Formats: sequence, C-alpha cells, structure tokens
Amino acid sequence: MSHLIAPSILASNFLQLGKEIELLNQSEADYIHVDVMDGHFVPNLSFGLPIIEQVKQIAQKPLDVHLMITNPQLYIEDYKNAGADILSVHVEVCDHLHRVLQAIEQAGMQRGVAINPHTPISHLENVIEQIDLICLMSVNPGFGGQKFIEHTYKKVEQLKELIVKSNSNAKIEIDGGVSLANARKLLNVGADVLVAGSAVFKADDPLEMIRELKAV
Ligand code: DX5
Ligand code: ZN
Repeated sequence: MSHLIAPSILASNFLQLGKEIELLNQSEADYIHVDVMDGHFVPNLSFGLPIIEQVKQIAQKPLDVHLMITNPQLYIEDYKNAGADILSVHVEVCDHLHRVLQAIEQAGMQRGVAINPHTPISHLENVIEQIDLICLMSVNPGFGGQKFIEHTYKKVEQLKELIVKSNSNAKIEIDGGVSLANARKLLNVGADVLVAGSAVFKADDPLEMIRELKAV
C-alpha cells in the first residue's frame, strides 16, 4: 500500500475554511486531519463539534479526528454524529482504553489511539489488535508549526515491530513537524500516514505540496 497524506486544517485559514476544504477535495490528500483541543489536556483550544459538522457537509475525504481532550469517552457518539470517520483518543487520558476502543468501533468509526512523545510504545501492547490507526506524536501536542522530535524514528521502528509481531492491521500515522525533509525517512522506518499542517497550508502552492508529499 502506498502511503497516505492527511493535511491538518489546524494550519488552514479559518476565515476561508470552506475554500480550504474544497482545495483538499481537489488534492491528492487521503484524509482530512482535524485537531480538537480542549485547553485541559493540551494548553490550547482549537475547535469542536459545530465546526466539524459544517466541514463534513462539504468534505469529500474521510475526517481523521484527533481528540486532544480529557474524558473523550463522554463524546464518542457526538463525534460520530458530527462526521468523524476515524476517531483518535490519547492513551494518556484513558483509564479504560480497551472499553473506549470498543465504543468507537460500535459507533461505526475506525479506532485511533494517539500517543505522546514521552509515552512508551509498550503502553499499546495489550490493545494493539483493537486499533486501526496509531497517531504517533512527533511533537508535544497543542500547537502546529513545531519542530519534529528526532527520537520519533526509533519509536516508529518499535511500533512497527509490535504491529508485525501481533499481526495487527494498525496503520502508523506520524503527527507533528512533518515535511519533505523527513517524510521519506519516516516511510522507510514504517510510517503509513503522514499528517502535515504547516508544510501544506503555509506552502506557496498547497496542492503541489500535497502532490510532492504523496510522491516522496
Ligand atoms: C499538534 C497537532 C498536529 C498539528 C500538526 O497538536 O496534533 O496535527 O496540527 O501541525 P504541523 O504539521 O504544523 O506540525
Ligand atoms: Zn493532530
């Protein structure tokens, strides 16, 4: 399978959000990455359900929703109803991760788990077979435009090993500081999906940047 590109609309122009989604519709992007921040789990607020509902009305690509919120278990049905296709919760905020993953599946979405730079891959060992997508954070979550953490390569290798060993179908998604400078190396160590916010939306030609990220 060739790799997938998931532009993050956190870096888009919110005053032109409809146009930005239409641009992604025309692009080679595979998913639209949607960053939800609550000001508790991460020191920043972004947007939530009402905006996702409106994005869903015009989006022609699956919505890959990354919840950076505490108590995600309270909102699973809400995000399904708003239009999420993939729903990722952070391993760090789930006391009952196995149950949350069951609930995401029962709601009819793909099951995602996001994991912070400091959290060991071993925290996923006992649920790896219940996961469709692992959002491996390559920056500390909360902001776009941060510097890529180099230790990520090692974690991708460890995660890939765990996935192969357990016969899991989980995809590895890299989130934060991804650009043309590190995309090929990330794919070589085992990444399947690349999230790109600033690299796409701050580029002179976002469509061309998506094409280049897809072609690396
Ligand atoms: C960070 C978010 C990322 C972010 C990526 O908290 O989860 O998805 O939007 O943005 P860039 O690509 O600019 O690092
Ligand atoms: Zn994200």
